[in-house]
Amino acid sequence: MTTAQTLKPPGTAPGGLGVTRRRDRWWIAPGVQAVLFTILATYLFWSGIVWTPLFGTAYEVDGYLSPLFSPLIAPGWLPAFISPGALILWIPLGFRATCYYYRKAYYRFYFADPPGCAVGEPKVHHGYKMEAAFPFILQNFHRYFLYLAFIPLFFLWVDAVISLFPREGPRLGLGSAIFFVNVVLLTGFSLSCNSLRHLAGGRLDCFSCTRRQRVQYSLWQRLTALNRHHMAWAWVSFFSVTIADVYVRLLALGIVVDPAIRL
Ligand code: FES
Repeated sequence: MTTAQTLKPPGTAPGGLGVTRRRDRWWIAPGVQAVLFTILATYLFWSGIVWTPLFGTAYEVDGYLSPLFSPLIAPGWLPAFISPGALILWIPLGFRATCYYYRKAYYRFYFADPPGCAVGEPKVHHGYKMEAAFPFILQNFHRYFLYLAFIPLFFLWVDAVISLFPREGPRLGLGSAIFFVNVVLLTGFSLSCNSLRHLAGGRLDCFSCTRRQRVQYSLWQRLTALNRHHMAWAWVSFFSVTIADVYVRLLALGIVVDPAIRL
């Protein structure tokens, strides 16, 4: 493939940024998404990377481990200025940053590429080599981040179960409920991934020729049902992981007490 072929087609660029015949308020959705995305991503970066090294605020309290730090990797040699979250967060961060849905969303609201369907984009995009050149070629690592993402996901299920059994004895606490809802939503996000759907049955030429292909087709159908709502899974799990972390931090700061039924 030549360089000329990898250049982005003019698309909506000829009209210039924001030029459109659309009469609806097309800018509301990307605008709201930009604000929410920026707030959540900034908070998660602050909490997972900066907060604990800077102020020593606990990320684990009363049997609840913040999902940003799971699985907990805190070797003795780790300097105090590096958060244990940094050793694991690169996996979910890479998984989300390269997700097909998030790409569509942030290309739109951060890069105006294009800012909306049938809305003009900046002319500078003519020189854009798409995802065939650095740095956006790195988006092709999405499949590998998908494989890795199942590691922290497994530990989040373990954490949710463990939170039911603190040292003082079994309990049903609000924190455990938040943890279970969060890990269910994160599982939905992972299982609805486009790459996983492709892996299950995207390359099949025949859905019924062999027993194995029939099993793959059945799995593909189930993943497709989840995939139809991938955007919703992306957003609700983004909120739930933030809420789970905020809850642990509020417990650690003594601002809230975990309401629980002790068994
Ligand atoms: Fe969104 Fe894979 S496409 S997580």
